[in-house]
Amino acid sequence: METINNAYAMPRIGDMAPDFDATTTTGKLKFSEFNKDKWVILFSHPADFTPVCTTELSEFARQQDYFTAQNTKLIGLSIDSIHSHMAWVHNVKEKLGVLMNFPIIADIDMHVAKLYGMLQPGESQTAAVRAVFFIDPTGKIRLIMYYPLNVGRNMDEVKRVLLALQTSDANKCAMPLNWKQGDKVIVPPPTTVEAMTERENSNYEMVDFYLAKREI
Ligand code: BEZ
Repeated sequence: METINNAYAMPRIGDMAPDFDATTTTGKLKFSEFNKDKWVILFSHPADFTPVCTTELSEFARQQDYFTAQNTKLIGLSIDSIHSHMAWVHNVKEKLGVLMNFPIIADIDMHVAKLYGMLQPGESQTAAVRAVFFIDPTGKIRLIMYYPLNVGRNMDEVKRVLLALQTSDANKCAMPLNWKQGDKVIVPPPTTVEAMTERENSNYEMVDFYLAKREI
């Protein structure tokens, strides 16, 4: 069987986001400072001037105001030069009328792509896969998506999981299958007999003591 080079680190949910310095389309930045007091969505794309990536990044730009309202900063990355990024941003503005004005990291030496497990050699030795990292204001990685080169992401799902994470944190609850804004949320299961008995007398929507929902 062929050996797959799997030497690159894969960050996990619950890890602190690895810090790095980067050259981006909005200037040089230190990631930990960029992340300060904000949620960050860090996403990679395989290459500038490619069709699927153009649909994805132009849509992130269209949704910029939504993410800002959610206290969330966007930052993209690909293994391309800053010159390529600038030319692509200019081209997308010209052709689609959308300015991709969030930073896009020029990761030509693959430093950040390797730090975040975006370079997955079985898929490509030279292009980042379509990764999405949801990083909270404390710098912790809270959710990770990885998509292959040939399938674009789903913006509704990106927005849904961000809101689910933020709502879960704010309300100390968990989010059921297909949760969306306005739906009931899961109350954490009781861990003592006393709490279980209390729950039986509550007005939660209850299937059993361990599966209860409430409005928020
Ligand atoms: C695209 O974005 O269209 C694309 C990029 C790399 C490989 C395949 C498709």
